[in-house]
Amino acid sequence: KYVIGSHEGGLVTDMPSHDNLFLYYGDLSDFSSISRIITTIRPDEVYNLAAMSDVRVSFDIPEYTGDVSGLGALRVIEAVRQAGVPAKIYQASTSELYGKVLEVPQTETTPFNPRSPYAIAKQYAYWMSKSYRDGYGMFITNGILFNHESPRRGPNFVTRKITRGAAAIALGGDRKIYLGNLDAKRDWGYAPEYVEAMWRMLQLEKPDDYVLATGETHTIREFLEEAFRHIGKRWEDHVEIKQELFRPSEVDILMGDASKAKRDLGWEPQTTFKDLVKLLLDADIELAKQNGSGQS
Ligand code: GDD
Repeated sequence: KYVIGSHEGGLVTDMPSHDNLFLYYGDLSDFSSISRIITTIRPDEVYNLAAMSDVRVSFDIPEYTGDVSGLGALRVIEAVRQAGVPAKIYQASTSELYGKVLEVPQTETTPFNPRSPYAIAKQYAYWMSKSYRDGYGMFITNGILFNHESPRRGPNFVTRKITRGAAAIALGGDRKIYLGNLDAKRDWGYAPEYVEAMWRMLQLEKPDDYVLATGETHTIREFLEEAFRHIGKRWEDHVEIKQELFRPSEVDILMGDASKAKRDLGWEPQTTFKDLVKLLLDADIELAKQNGSGQS
């Protein structure tokens, strides 16, 4: 709901202010708010990271997802075009576009085969970005990011759900973690490194599309094993499978090839899978301690 701009005097008054950071209230489903912000700020760079981004929830609210994650991107692009601002735009595309994958590993040329309302909305945004780039000569780059995690990840996503639960268990909490499909494979990287690459994409002379990924893939079960190894417990004693947490259709395997990003952006992921699990777990253990043992 908030848009961050570098123009003095944001439209939000009840948020803490920062020297070089101003918040404006906006909503991707409301073109006039986006347009007003773009016209007021006249930004050099726009990063559209907003979406209804929970893949499973998108099956429950497909229309809303299409509005915000699909049409919302178009609203941002149109607002920039209509304002005549020469802003560079970053569109958060996603590895979910590959869906039931047609190739392993996935690259910028792998055909899309989306399997969820979320991925289909994002495909609309991807093609709109390309269409405005080609048709109007706008600088719009699609970052096709594979899963990128950090301690800021929402607890409804599987990595945080596991590390939060494991942290509470490590501190003595008697707690179950309810999960769905443990066989899906994901290419998990560390979010701050991916954000650096987003910025690098907009520093290039020309817009393009870039995959960001580690090139490694692991099952949810492997993530569980690694997290519980750290706390010296057996995950089998703490995890219960719930049928309702499975998705109507699943993306079975994601594994990206970021060679193009390496070539053009000089970007390579630094954090390994094991380091990532440890980093997320340590952060949740710290948080659980602050909130009182086992209460994270
Ligand atoms: N969320 C969740 N909760 N996922 C579970 C659970 C559970 O209880 N149990 C198993 N999973 C499996 C899902 O079925 C999926 O295969 C995998 O864990 C990862 O799920 P999420 O962490 O929800 O992420 P995602 O891969 O669906 O999507 C994320 O990454 C995309 C980039 O590839 C989101 O951030 C998307 O917005 C993003 O585009």
